[in-house]
Amino acid sequence: MENQGISWQYDEFKQIGTDYSSKTEVDKYDSSHADFRDIKAESIKVLDLLEVTKEHTLIDFGSGTGTFAIEAALRCARVHAVDVSREMIDCAATKAMKAGVTNLHFHHAGFLTYRHQVAPVDAVVTTFAFHHLPDFWKGIALKRVNAVLKPSGKFYIHDVIIEENQALKNIAALIQKLGKAGGKLMREDAERHFKDEYSTYDWVMDGLLARAGFTIRVKRIEDGVLGTYICTRN
Ligand SMILES: C[S@@+](CC[C@H](N)C(=O)[O-])C[C@H]1O[C@@H](n2cnc3c(N)ncnc32)[C@H](O)[C@@H]1O
Repeated sequence: MENQGISWQYDEFKQIGTDYSSKTEVDKYDSSHADFRDIKAESIKVLDLLEVTKEHTLIDFGSGTGTFAIEAALRCARVHAVDVSREMIDCAATKAMKAGVTNLHFHHAGFLTYRHQVAPVDAVVTTFAFHHLPDFWKGIALKRVNAVLKPSGKFYIHDVIIEENQALKNIAALIQKLGKAGGKLMREDAERHFKDEYSTYDWVMDGLLARAGFTIRVKRIEDGVLGTYICTRN
């Protein structure tokens, strides 16, 4: 890849916002997120949408505690789970072992550093991880995602992606909603997201995706702040 060997590359292993290299954060991740999402049900819905079958291979970037990657592995031929946090990978690998999953391969790497050394995949999925990269590096990352997909391969992204209209009002409403669901800690977590992390506008994402060689097939921005895109590689 063209970004290999650049000494000034963004350090994606450096933790920003929530520290996912901390065992405490990792240990509480699934239970705190259960206050406002059902990750297993979400995972099944995404796999249904992507029409994933036993013939398919898939990469999950920012795999976290592994709920999606494990569900995907139960449906796919092979899954690669990529994450910059060693703690997250250890947690996910333990869960995968308990679930008896053997076709799930873990990689301590990220969007900018993962080297895909086998055949191109049918689908790439990433949920709530892309906002860790600043916009310039998002562009580089999307070109790398594009390059590991088969022609017409599918890319699913779900993250905080913001519509310009009423942006501040919608963000405040989201923080309030999360605080209501998960208490003070979740509220602080949500505030930290907007203070320290790199969520971007939907119009920026539209352009980055198109320039990286994707066609946007589905785009939905819930409450002006939660974005989902399903794209295909051109
Ligand atoms: C909020 S968690 C999301 C986990 C999971 N995808 C989910 O939806 O629950 C973000 C994850 O992305 C990982 N991450 C952060 N920056 C990354 C990068 N540049 N490349 C890959 N993973 C990254 C973090 O270590 C963390 O595990």
